[in-house]
Amino acid sequence: MEDLIYLDNGATSFPKPEAVYAFMDTFYRNNGVSPGRSGYDLAIETGNIIQDVRKTMTSYFNGKDPNRLIFSANSTDALNLAINGLLSPGDHVITTTLEHNAVLRPLYHMSLYNDVEVDYVSFDEKGFVNPEDFMSKFKSNTRLVVVNHGSNVIGTVQPLKEIGQLCKDKGVTFLVDASQTAGKLHIDIEVLNIDVIAFTGHKSLLGPTGIGGLYVKENVSINHTRSGGTGVKSAQRHHLEEYPYRLECGTLNTVGIAGLYAGINWVTDQGIEKIHQHEMALTEQLRDGLNKIKNVETYCADDLANHIGVLSFNVLGFESINTATILDGDYNIACRAGLQCAPLVHEQLGTILSGTVRMGFGPFNTEEHVAHAIKAVSEIAGFYAKKD
Ligand code: ALA
Repeated sequence: MEDLIYLDNGATSFPKPEAVYAFMDTFYRNNGVSPGRSGYDLAIETGNIIQDVRKTMTSYFNGKDPNRLIFSANSTDALNLAINGLLSPGDHVITTTLEHNAVLRPLYHMSLYNDVEVDYVSFDEKGFVNPEDFMSKFKSNTRLVVVNHGSNVIGTVQPLKEIGQLCKDKGVTFLVDASQTAGKLHIDIEVLNIDVIAFTGHKSLLGPTGIGGLYVKENVSINHTRSGGTGVKSAQRHHLEEYPYRLECGTLNTVGIAGLYAGINWVTDQGIEKIHQHEMALTEQLRDGLNKIKNVETYCADDLANHIGVLSFNVLGFESINTATILDGDYNIACRAGLQCAPLVHEQLGTILSGTVRMGFGPFNTEEHVAHAIKAVSEIAGFYAKKD
């Protein structure tokens, strides 16, 4: 474990900064009570900490109202809340082939059981969707456009501002899946014309698993698709309409929220740009090293502008899972193989049968890690070439 080279930060960041572990430990020991609800001092103090996290996340997205920052279990959960709460029978949705199953499956279920029609915009050979391709897909009943900000397979960052402008012009809600980019890039929902953004805490925000959320702009109304205790207005039969209660119920994951707080504070203290540049330098080093190896193919990585530190490749002739298993067993390198829950990306790349090997970087990766990974892949590819 000590010598493990962890390159699976696209799945979840690991390790977390010491400050995250320490803050969660202190918070849970001192503030492990139900926030706000019971009215004693410690509950109120804990509620205030939760409210501070809403404020911090709201300001990260350049939102206006911290109560419209709602917490969920992760981005899949947040996307389910948004998709199921925004669409009605007869609606039409435009999305992309870059999406994760966190978007594809809720939309598929909507199309199967709720008479919602879904159209897909494909990405080009470099891994980007063209905003113009959305134009021809709008219909009179288009209610929603859902776009993945940064691909968890190929790392490309999509032109949200232009797509968002189209949505604004058409009066259509623009929902963005920022699972891979929250904490890696500056995200300004005003500049990018985003109406609703979904995030997870355990990737580049460097918090723990089990915490994520949505920011919902003032012009958007998401119906609540679940209901329950909110700790306020308990005599009311109907679930509360006001945010954040509208989309939250039950006791919040307070220790997760505390970890998210420590995570985003660590990221902003270090500097988001600085971390991103570090991760991109490692991605470039990996891409250049892999491209020199015969029998290795990288995907959509020729131009790393508008990218995050996520790269997919294959050793030709090897199933991706076999390459990853050898990387783990013989070289102590952890990465993810297969379809990474994004099947349409692989259909387009032509890798649907075996998927790809994916490496993703975090702030604690080093040039030595990458050099070790390149050497390992080169040995695997060389072994294959000799056998051929
Ligand atoms: N969505 C995560 C990944 O890409 C889990 O691995």
